Amino acid sequence: MKVLGIESSCDECAAAVVEDGVLVLSNVVATQIPFHAAYNGVVPEIASRKHIEWIYGVVKEALDRAGLSPGDIDGVAASSRPGLLGALLVGLNFAKGFAWARGLPFIAVNHMLAHLYACRLKIPAPDSPPVLPPYPFLGLLVSGGHSIICRVDGFDDITVLGATIDDAVGEAFDKVSKYYGFGYPGGAAIDKLAREGNPDAFSFPLPKLHKGQHPYDMSYSGLKTAVINQLEQFRNPQAAPGAAGEGADIAASFQKTAIEILLRGLLRAAADTGLNTIVAGGGVAANSLLRSRLASREGLRCIFPPPEFCGDNGAMVAGIGCQYLERGETSPFTITASARVGGFKRKYP
Ligand code: KG4
Ligand code: ZN
Repeated sequence: MKVLGIESSCDECAAAVVEDGVLVLSNVVATQIPFHAAYNGVVPEIASRKHIEWIYGVVKEALDRAGLSPGDIDGVAASSRPGLLGALLVGLNFAKGFAWARGLPFIAVNHMLAHLYACRLKIPAPDSPPVLPPYPFLGLLVSGGHSIICRVDGFDDITVLGATIDDAVGEAFDKVSKYYGFGYPGGAAIDKLAREGNPDAFSFPLPKLHKGQHPYDMSYSGLKTAVINQLEQFRNPQAAPGAAGEGADIAASFQKTAIEILLRGLLRAAADTGLNTIVAGGGVAANSLLRSRLASREGLRCIFPPPEFCGDNGAMVAGIGCQYLERGETSPFTITASARVGGFKRKYP
């Protein structure tokens, strides 16, 4: 089954064709970064307008690169939540129109579940077998809007064990980067800059939450405030500066603490649940420190999507969409978009 997947939840206008839920035949991501960079953040109105201008060309390109015409597509999927409402509506409605015009089954998917699905995607190449971790496993969903630790029992069956109680981890990267002018988007800019800095130049505190009752929850607003407003209080006087100076030291020390907050909850969840396979997804899953810290943990199998499938893309939407369609599930053409993630089961230990 060849599924066209459309993604427009934020600032990437993306479409892809995936065969049988796994094999990526094409993956086109048109980034709007240059249009938002001047504002150091995504401007929702600009995002919606760019999606409207680009969506036809991006879908056409995805079909062309796969060597297919609209008649070769067997089903259509689009992200319908969570994300920027106006942006989501563009891709969702384009997908509905495509499906209706061709008489194809249509499915609206949850963007966060699609991120979790991304590790299963396979690029056509003889030496790249698909990674299909058996359920259950632990999921780490980390993006610009969400930070979630969950138990995963199926592609659409997750139970949230812990989440951020305030800012998302990607949002903290973006805000710190914006404040110090490190670049936009902030995650990749800090990741790069941190390589030249001293991660011990500042010792930022780890949050204490709920008096230990919800051990997998996270918080990033305190770290963000410390890095932005109270920097001097956390300076380590003995630490020698990194090669690139103060900015790189701030980036490295912030990143070290931000990743430590994630790992603290995640490793505890792994120990408590006995689940030793961890699957990461979302833009922050591209972070090099997160990857190296998890890769070096004994007794854990950590699976990260290839970097091109960590950020927003249409392939993850097509992939998970295919799973629903093969199960015979479709969405009505009356379905709308939602800014909120919604509907996840939540369980505190
Ligand atoms: O999944 P994504 O592309 O979009 C959302 O669904 O939000 O995630 C975007 C987030 C941004 O906050 C961005 O700064 C962050 O992922 N990000 C990173 C890295 N690359 C992207 N954060 C840390 N390290 C990175 N290398
Ligand atoms: Zn995303």
